[in-house]
Amino acid sequence: ARTVSRGADGALYVAGLDVRRLAEEFGTPAYILDEDDFRGRCRAWREAFGDDADVFYAGKAFLSRAVVRWLHEEGLNLDVCSGGELATALDAGMPPERIALHGNNKSDEEIRRAVEAGVGRIVLDSFAEIVRVAHIAERLGRRQRVQIRVTVGVEAHTHEFIATAHEDQKFGIALAGGQASEAVRRALKLDGLELIGIHSHIGSQIFDTSGFEVAAHRVVGLLKEIRDEHGVELPEVDLGGGLGIAYTSADDPREPSEIARALRDIVTRECASAGLAVPRLSVEPGRAIAGPTTFTVYRVGTVKELPGLRTYVSVDGGMSDNIRTALYDAEYSVALVSRTSDAEPMLSRVVGKHCESGDIVVRDAFLPADLAPGDLIAVPATGAYCRSMASNYNHALRPPVVAVRDGQARVIVRRETEEDLLRLDVG
Ligand code: LLP
Repeated sequence: ARTVSRGADGALYVAGLDVRRLAEEFGTPAYILDEDDFRGRCRAWREAFGDDADVFYAGKAFLSRAVVRWLHEEGLNLDVCSGGELATALDAGMPPERIALHGNNKSDEEIRRAVEAGVGRIVLDSFAEIVRVAHIAERLGRRQRVQIRVTVGVEAHTHEFIATAHEDQKFGIALAGGQASEAVRRALKLDGLELIGIHSHIGSQIFDTSGFEVAAHRVVGLLKEIRDEHGVELPEVDLGGGLGIAYTSADDPREPSEIARALRDIVTRECASAGLAVPRLSVEPGRAIAGPTTFTVYRVGTVKELPGLRTYVSVDGGMSDNIRTALYDAEYSVALVSRTSDAEPMLSRVVGKHCESGDIVVRDAFLPADLAPGDLIAVPATGAYCRSMASNYNHALRPPVVAVRDGQARVIVRRETEEDLLRLDVG
């Protein structure tokens, strides 16, 4: 679905637009988002899961009003994990019943706004929250649809900071030791709650389906226990997000259709053998939808060759627009996009303009030896967790997100200005 190609002049074109013109018009750094690709990925997930399942886009990957409208139009639901994301979703017209609220430490105010708005589900993350959500709903005269998030004890093979189903971490309620069963027992007793299902999210940037299969197996085991103890069959199961994408050519991601088939097969099989009706499935992809749709275009500044080591290529952004390299040792690729070059490849490190040496965008890359100040380079796959985790470190101005489609470019999140920064300063 991607519309990126090289023109006869060697420059990169996206959706029919010359990247050099985009850089002139919108400045650098900028996130360039291919709208057709984003919508195409939404449709691929919808089609893979079909009408008897729901796809909740994880807004934490990247959220803006335009994104909410695309999701709405493409038939996706939306997972939000803060008051800010909830406000954006509602403001852009997402029907509340298609919103799920997550979070391990939701405030009373966030819960109240979600219940009042009529969100489709709140995912309960602790014993205390079961009671809090029930009380808030009762006070508002509502019965809130909820799921309980369980930790299934799967070691997802990914970075420690983004693995979430092992037991020693802050999310969810452990299946182990009967804790999840106890949570279900308590939730079923409370008038303010309608317990509709069980939720599991095992982690992020995962490439094989086996972790999801183990999670599905254990969640169905819990459904069976609930049926046996309470005589209730919970109608829904959410297996979270986490499908990995290709950041470099070394990554080999699974397609939505593969993950859909694997999840459906295992849930169907396990339910059949437990004598349970097959619950309605849902999933929460964030990265796999937003990630590949976007590249960041930077302008090259200082180029410093350290003989015998490597060349440091400084760009006009850095860890403030992509913290993932510094935070997770994430790997990215990079390419010269304002022209082609036949010069020798040189071992390079693309770094930002921030005041610390960990400010690395691409740790190891080959760029042509004639790379010079003013050239444009692009880092692909920056659509997820880059703008959404961007900061103002060193008073950097967060870059715009420019959506391109059919030869048209439009800003969907504008570049910050110095006035924006100063507006928060009091006195
Ligand atoms: N559902 C829940 C409950 C989650 O916590 C997450 C991600 C998702 C869905 C979406 O996961 P995805 O499909 O995007 O992998 N900042 C990190 C990723 C943190 C993910 C947090 N939760 C990164 O840049 O890699």
